[in-house]
Amino acid sequence: MKILLFGKNGQVGWELQRALEPLGEVIAIDRRSAEYCGDLADLDGLRATVRAIKPDVIVNAAAYTAVDKAESEQGAAQLINADAVQVLAEEAAASGAWLVHYSTDYVFDGTGDAPWTESSKVSPVNVYGASKLAGEQAITASGCKHLIFRTSWVYGVRGNNFAKTMLRLAKDRDTLNVIADQIGAPTGAELLADVVAHAIIKAQADSSVSGIYHLAPAGEVSWHGYAQFVIDFVKAQGENLTVNSLLPIPTTAYPTPAARPLNSRMDTQKLRDTFSLHLPDWQRGVTRMLMEVLHK
Ligand SMILES: NC(=O)c1ccc[n+]([C@@H]2O[C@H](COP(=O)([O-])OP(=O)(O)OC[C@H]3O[C@@H](n4cnc5c(N)ncnc54)[C@H](OP(=O)(O)O)[C@@H]3O)[C@@H](O)[C@H]2O)c1
Repeated sequence: MKILLFGKNGQVGWELQRALEPLGEVIAIDRRSAEYCGDLADLDGLRATVRAIKPDVIVNAAAYTAVDKAESEQGAAQLINADAVQVLAEEAAASGAWLVHYSTDYVFDGTGDAPWTESSKVSPVNVYGASKLAGEQAITASGCKHLIFRTSWVYGVRGNNFAKTMLRLAKDRDTLNVIADQIGAPTGAELLADVVAHAIIKAQADSSVSGIYHLAPAGEVSWHGYAQFVIDFVKAQGENLTVNSLLPIPTTAYPTPAARPLNSRMDTQKLRDTFSLHLPDWQRGVTRMLMEVLHK
């Protein structure tokens, strides 16, 4: 199997380089790659890359992910998250390749407290969410065989993430204010990559699995609860933190350019049933990431 991976150095792309390796020949590129164009802003270049490599599977881990910046850069978000994805979908449809892509719970408006299913009504509340939804719609409209994984609150050991930010602040502050009314599940880049590798194997044998899936670990937590877990765990490891209290605040007390959905709960039943997978509690991946960050 020949796999073409875009966005190889993002949080998820980095883990995919590892997880896809046992499946076949992996050609992993990013926007700085010299031999093939991996820049999603270059639509002609993207087409040329897919046509030159002729992959069996295209995996797209690249995206415009700057949620707040997207509010003032709508054109760039649309180009990377929708127009480029449409090109990949068209090329996949024409060649018979699978397209594997990541999307987000931000396609939903965050109302209520029920977990979102794949058939829940989409209604993004910010530019980033709208651009990701447009990407999903381009894929389904193209008729290509596809696996779209909507996920939430992604963290990786590589790069910045919420837990690392909390740890940094907890080393020189006494009190931290953390949003307590947005609920979701922190999802590890490792899990996202490993599940995709499993799904690709299944898809090779059964094209009826083509579709959209929700992918997040089990359980739910607020950003405040997530931060508390991180601080408690790191203190228990003997690390010296100055923070004494985490104050829960509402989203309204922390205005950002982009609105955030309050309810990011994802129903993952379809994924677990289709691919016979078990999804661990979110604490397991976060603990593992913290151990790596602390070099324990
Ligand atoms: N992060 C989250 O909390 C979250 C939540 C839900 C869904 N998702 C989705 O999960 C997927 C993976 O996200 P992630 O967390 O791994 O994001 P990430 O760490 O921000 O990585 C995104 C990658 O896309 C690349 N990229 C941006 N513009 C590009 C362009 N024009 N051409 C080529 N590459 C470009 C970036 O490269 P540069 O470093 O060169 O900019 C970066 O390596 C995305 O589809 C994202 O929408 C993420």
